[in-house]
Amino acid sequence: MSNILSDEALDQLFREAHTHNTWLDKPVTEDILRQIYDVMKWGPTSANSSPARFVFLRSQQAKQRLRPLLAPGNVEKTMAAPVTVIIAYDLLFFEKLVKLFPNAPAMRDFFAQNPQLVEATAKRNSSLQGAYLMIAARALGLDCGPMSGFDNAKVDEEFFSAGKECEGCDQEFFPAGHVRSNFLCNLGYGDRSKIFPRNPRLEFNEACSLL
Ligand SMILES: Cc1cc2nc3c(=O)[nH]c(=O)nc-3n(C[C@H](O)[C@H](O)[C@H](O)COP(=O)(O)O)c2cc1C
Repeated sequence: MSNILSDEALDQLFREAHTHNTWLDKPVTEDILRQIYDVMKWGPTSANSSPARFVFLRSQQAKQRLRPLLAPGNVEKTMAAPVTVIIAYDLLFFEKLVKLFPNAPAMRDFFAQNPQLVEATAKRNSSLQGAYLMIAARALGLDCGPMSGFDNAKVDEEFFSAGKECEGCDQEFFPAGHVRSNFLCNLGYGDRSKIFPRNPRLEFNEACSLL
């Protein structure tokens, strides 16, 4: 049986973990981004499909490509954040099932023949993986600012269309045309003096049924 986490750990992951809009002048290293990925990748996905793909925008050059695609209220905090992650999903995720789910080789063809299931699976599981990413980041001492206020189609065009898969970097994680953005998340060390007061959450009886 697993140990129960301390109150301090639960505070850090959930109860005291606010959405952040203002960032301290403290860099987020490539090493910590790799650590976040190496923790969050263990979160479960259906058929171990792992459809999420992550683009970590670190340079001003990369951020400027995003700027005009953001809702006005998201521009300043995103430009100021040390890192902005595009949490995306690969509609050809099933091509990796040979590696990821070798115990059921038929799953690859099952997905390949069912585009509606592919889309639902990619969206559902990349959203989960985005949440795992935020919890991993918080566990490793960072703060998060998730955002859906941006133009998904334009982000897909700018970052995932032919010839733009990996502009300005030397790796090609994203073959063109089949990766779509889900949501964005600013990452950094937040300025705790600037967080908004916590809004309430639904009580157990408002959100849960015990049958
Ligand atoms: C998927 C998602 C999308 C969001 N989109 C935006 C956004 O576009 N702009 C924004 O300012 N906040 C956005 N938020 C932040 C939420 O409003 C915030 O997380 C929520 O009010 C809880 O705040 P708290 O974490 O400080 O309690 C988003 C949060 C999530 C999880």
